[in-house]
Amino acid sequence: MSGTTVLTDAARAVVRVAHERRSADDVLGSSAAIRAIALGTLRWYLRLAPAIERLLTRPSAQMAPAVHALLVTAAHQIVYSRNAPEGVVDAAVDATRALGAPRASGFVNALLRRFVREQAGIFATIDADPAVRYAHPRWFVEALGREQRERRDDILAGGNERAPMTLRVDLSRSSVAQAQAACAARGIAAQPLAGYASALVLASPVAVDELPGFAEGIVSVQDAGAQLAATLLAPRAGMRVLDACAAPGGKTGHLLEVAGGEIDLLAVDDDADRLGRVAANLERLKRHARLARLDLRDPGALAGEAPFDRILLDAPCSATGVIRRHPDIKLLRRAADIPAFARLQRTILQNCHARLAPGGLLLYATCSVLAGENATVVDRFLADTPRARRAADPVQLWPGLRAPTDGFHYALLTKTDPT
Ligand SMILES: C[S@@+](CC[C@H](N)C(=O)[O-])C[C@H]1O[C@@H](n2cnc3c(N)ncnc32)[C@H](O)[C@@H]1O
Repeated sequence: MSGTTVLTDAARAVVRVAHERRSADDVLGSSAAIRAIALGTLRWYLRLAPAIERLLTRPSAQMAPAVHALLVTAAHQIVYSRNAPEGVVDAAVDATRALGAPRASGFVNALLRRFVREQAGIFATIDADPAVRYAHPRWFVEALGREQRERRDDILAGGNERAPMTLRVDLSRSSVAQAQAACAARGIAAQPLAGYASALVLASPVAVDELPGFAEGIVSVQDAGAQLAATLLAPRAGMRVLDACAAPGGKTGHLLEVAGGEIDLLAVDDDADRLGRVAANLERLKRHARLARLDLRDPGALAGEAPFDRILLDAPCSATGVIRRHPDIKLLRRAADIPAFARLQRTILQNCHARLAPGGLLLYATCSVLAGENATVVDRFLADTPRARRAADPVQLWPGLRAPTDGFHYALLTKTDPT
């Protein structure tokens, strides 16, 4: 694939995320080169777009979205790749034709040549603003500044790092040391992670079909922080377990693994396509669960089910703890999403807790780092629900520059007997 084709296709993906608000997963194919450029551009978009803006005489809103996305994508290549800037500019000029905007070629050429010359001065000015310097949305930078003043810069800088690829070993079928040795035999360097019993962190990412034991379901790919969910909930053989927001099934598989497969597990999600991915995951793991497409906002959704001994509620959330893996989140989330998620989380939490057996455990989980989706939701629910109690102190895993895990929040709750 030529440099122009890769740049064009990456710019096409960027325009769909930045201007049409589609998720990167939806719009990106499997080409590693296009993915790397598009995801890199999205990672730094909120620093690069203001830099481009500085060179415009008219606001960028008046420009064709495809041309704007091309400028930002080319700027990413100029600043963050080893490619010669002149070659990037030439490829961008050629890309205007492929993007159906040949009349913009002179403008793109002139603007990017100025960008190459003037970038150091531009960044020296605009980087004074932390939202620009760290390329994160202003509302998020401000929320973190209010809630986590000390950690703010570390979390923001960490959001621009590449996350490690981490494996989960099915400890009922292999020890971590055995899985590590199997990796080493294939030239794949990996290390266990203290405090995470089933985790093996790879030195560099590899394709899953190169992983020994992946096809057989002995290892899966899952962030170590996500592996804490099944560890904290600790379902035991014979229990009735609900995985309330299960798709794509990463934690469903782990719940079955920690209980040796001997639980009655109901995996629920309201998205049929995503439930299909749970089924595919379980097939690879050779594990069984009942799958149901249900909308858990409905208080009657689980009416036919006997109470559960364990419930994992991995609630839909802003995903602000996994920005390093999904940089498009920076462009897709808005401040107003947080109270909207909080209302949804509260409703689903209430409906799930209603189906918890007295003395049972419910783990409320999010991959958010914002109190509005974590402590606030749980504290208000506890205040309003006489039979709900905390069963342990909440756990917050912070993402950051030196963080071995993504950002997760875990709150373990229980239910008292009726009075
Ligand atoms: C954070 S993801 C779950 C990830 C999953 N537990 C895993 O580890 O792979 C949240 C899930 O909640 C589902 N969801 C959102 N709203 C829902 C609702 N009203 N009822 C049921 N599921 C819902 C989404 O489709 C999404 O799959």
